[in-house]
Formats: sequence, C-alpha cells, structure tokens
Amino acid sequence: MTQKISVIGVGYLGAVHAAAMAELGHDVIGLDVDAERVAALQSGRAPFHEPGFEELLRRGLAAGRLRFTTDYAELAGADVHFLGLGTPQRADGTGADLSYLESAVDALAAVLPARAGAPTLVVGKSTVPAGTARALAARLEHVPGAQLMWNPEFLREGFAVRDTLTPDRLVYGIPSADGSAPEQDPRVRALDAVYAPLLEAGTPRLVMGYEAAELVKVSANAFLATKISFINAVAEMCEATGADVTDVAVAIGMDDRIGSRFLRAGVGFGGGCLPKDIRAFLASAEQHGVGEALGFLREVDTINERRRARVVELASEMLGGLGGRRITVLGAAFKPDSDDVRDSPALDVARRLLDAGADVTVTDPAARAGAQRLVGEDRFVQDTDEALHGAELVVLLTEWPEYRELDPARTAGLVAAPRMLDGRTVLDPAAWREAGWELRSLGRGEAPQAAAAAERLDTSDQVAAA
Ligand SMILES: NC(=O)c1ccc[n+]([C@@H]2O[C@H](COP(=O)([O-])OP(=O)(O)OC[C@H]3O[C@@H](n4cnc5c(N)ncnc54)[C@H](O)[C@@H]3O)[C@@H](O)[C@H]2O)c1
Repeated sequence: MTQKISVIGVGYLGAVHAAAMAELGHDVIGLDVDAERVAALQSGRAPFHEPGFEELLRRGLAAGRLRFTTDYAELAGADVHFLGLGTPQRADGTGADLSYLESAVDALAAVLPARAGAPTLVVGKSTVPAGTARALAARLEHVPGAQLMWNPEFLREGFAVRDTLTPDRLVYGIPSADGSAPEQDPRVRALDAVYAPLLEAGTPRLVMGYEAAELVKVSANAFLATKISFINAVAEMCEATGADVTDVAVAIGMDDRIGSRFLRAGVGFGGGCLPKDIRAFLASAEQHGVGEALGFLREVDTINERRRARVVELASEMLGGLGGRRITVLGAAFKPDSDDVRDSPALDVARRLLDAGADVTVTDPAARAGAQRLVGEDRFVQDTDEALHGAELVVLLTEWPEYRELDPARTAGLVAAPRMLDGRTVLDPAAWREAGWELRSLGRGEAPQAAAAAERLDTSDQVAAA
C-alpha cells in the first residue's frame, strides 16, 4: 500500500533512499537545507556520482511519486519521516557531531500535526553512537503520536541503489525490545508496510532495542575497518620480509571463517563513513567507561594512516627525492564508482606529495569538483592520457576499472619515465615489468628485503642459541 513518506537530508544516503522509496510505489518528498542540491534533484540531475541513481530519480519524478523541497512545512502530511542527516566527526574532537540530526528533529517536530490513532513514525537512518536515538526521542516527546525508530543504513557508495532495494537485512531499533512479538508492535507494523516489497522478497528483518540497532551499524563498520587494517598490517610485514600480501590474502581468505572480502591490501580506507565511524565508536566507548575494550580501534586508525605515509615514502625512494618531480596520481575519489572525496586516501597522499615539493597532477573519472577543491584547480586534469603525459612516477590510488585496465606498453609511451607505484595492489606486476616499468606495490615485498629479513632471522637464532 502506498505510504506518504518524507526523507530529511538528501545527501548520498537520503537521496538514494528517497528515490528507492518512490520506486517501491510510495509517495515521497525529500527535504534538504541545501537549495542547490534540492534544485538539482528536482530537475532530475544527480548531484553526485552513483551508478543507476539518476535513472531511479527520473523514474520517480516522472511518475509523480517523488519531489523535493527546502520547506519543512511541506512534510506535515507524511506518515513516515526518514532522517538521512550527516553525522561527521566533531570539529573539536573525535566524537560524532549530532547537531544536524538535532536541528532536523526540532524543525520536524515544529511542523508535525498532533495525531491520535496511527503513529507518525520518525525513522533514523544515520550512523550514530549508542544513546542517540533515546536522546532524539525525548525531543519528540511533546508531539502527540510521534514515535521514533532507528533503522541504520548499510548501503555502500557505488552500489547504493542495489543495496537500498535489496539489502542483506533490515534492522529496526525500538525503545525497548521486551520480547513480545514484533508483529504486535504498531511501529514495527508501520515500517513493515513501507518495506513490504523487500520483506516479501525474503529480506530478513531484525527488531531490537535502540542501542543494539545503533551498535549494529557502528560495529559492522568497525569490523570492516579492522579487517582492512589487519591485512594492511600483514602487508607491512610482507614488505619487510619479501612476501607478496596477495598470496597471503588469497590463501587465508579461502578459510570461510575469515572470508576473502575486504582483504585487499593497499592505501587503506577513507570516505565519509569508516574513518569517522571508528573514531566516534571509540569516543562513545570512552564516554561509557569502556574505552579500553575498543582501544584497538586507535591502532586500526593508525595502521590506516601509516599506509598513506608509506606511499609517500615509497614514491620518494623510487624517485630519489620528491622536490620538483612530476608525479601523476590516478584517482581522487575514496573508492571507484563514487565521486566522494571525504577523507579520500588518494587526495590525502596527493596533498602530502605536494607538501613535500612534488609537482603533482591528479586525475579521476568522476571526482573533478572535489579534487579541485582539495588540491587546487590547476592540479586536476580530466583526461587520463593528458594527466599521464610527462610523469616521472605514476601513483595508482583509486582502483577505477580504467586504471586497472591501462595497457602498460601504451602507457609507457605517455610518461617521461615508466615508474608505477600501485597503491591498491591491483596491477599485474609481471605484465608491467615486461613492458619496461619499474613497479612497486604496497604489500608486495622485494627480494632484497627478503634476504635482509633472512639475515635478521639468522642473527636472532644465534642470539637465542648463545
Ligand atoms: N554515504 C554512505 O555511503 C552512507 C552509508 C551508510 C550510512 N551513512 C550515514 O548516513 C548519514 C548521512 O550520510 P551521507 O553520506 O548521506 O551524508 P551527506 O553529507 O551526503 O548528506 C547529509 C545531507 O543532510 C543535509 N542537511 C544538513 N542539515 C540539515 C537539516 N537541518 N535539514 C535538512 N537537511 C540537512 C545536508 O545538506 C546534506 O545534503 C551519516 O550518518 C552517514 O554516516 C552513509
């Protein structure tokens, strides 16, 4: 049955959610305080790069089931209000900044009509520390009939449409999961009605308390970040001993208790979620007096940062110093199929190379605006061939398919010197070396280091024997 839905905050998460809800047949209004973003969406233009999103957006608009506004008063008629506000890292610390959520909830509360009978559902989707939903629910207490649920979002940029329409699971957080059948709960029934097509398709739905629902999301992200930093820590060991981290990752990934995903070594994670989410998780644990339990996340963060520094170190090794050297950075987005440059490892490395005096050119198929903002307009070149022209070193930092599929022989003809630093460990070393390239990859140790490691081992054996 068609539901009247609003989505507040139509960024990466909210815009896709709004269009996906229209696709399910609902009558949807999306709201944002960013008038430019609202105008773009209303005219059928995706304000960010996300495969399949623009088509979904246009279908919703054309069917008359989707519209956008900047005016909170227009939300009053909806039965279900989703919150898609950002929760960035606080400017004055490592915790989550909840001010966008708080002001949106207050603005919504001011326009919600008092309702008897069916509840007005307010459904949080943002990633938040445990305790946030309960605090936001208190801000809605004075609105008769308003009920808050927490329904964290697990979409991945680059797969956002697919993940929203065919999620692995739906998690519903309610004030207290008292063990009674969720089907009896009017809030659960109301949200089930919104997600009916997904539930009919067999998507598991889990009902739990607010804090558990909040923790599901932050724990999932902390686990993924840990997995990436784990393999990157192993990569450091591989570099020191002459091993190839991809051999290790493939072999350990075949153990299905470990699994092969998120085991690609490289320059590490970035984006608008993992880095700020692990920091906020740790900050929240400290506030709850259990900071020690999650202290390892600090190390996860440090390993991740260290990989970025390692790229700069390797670049300097390969060039014999960075001052004035022509370096082309392939990639600016934090991952392929996105134009999101929030905490992007690629741009962070580009910035560090620039600070070290290198003459850096950055290219990316989608993230032009973000890259220009962060490294300067004149540093960005859209065309890959043009960007490669005259490079003394190429550094691959975002594994877009067009970079993975570069032809080593042809590319050698574009650069000034065939040196490649593969920061995502995706290129075939044999093919590139055969075409005359000097290639270094994060996590792929070089034989001389293996010899050095062997020497170190011998020495320690002697010490142990003495
Ligand atoms: N991007 C992802 O892949 C992803 C995935 C899962 C969860 N999340 C979580 O979802 C939340 C949103 O992330 P995002 O990447 O979409 O952020 P975003 O910054 O792209 O979007 C947030 C939007 O909220 C708008 N906004 C700010 N204040 C507002 C207000 N008072 N009223 C209305 N709109 C307002 C902003 O203008 C912006 O468009 C975060 O908590 C994030 O951690 C994001």
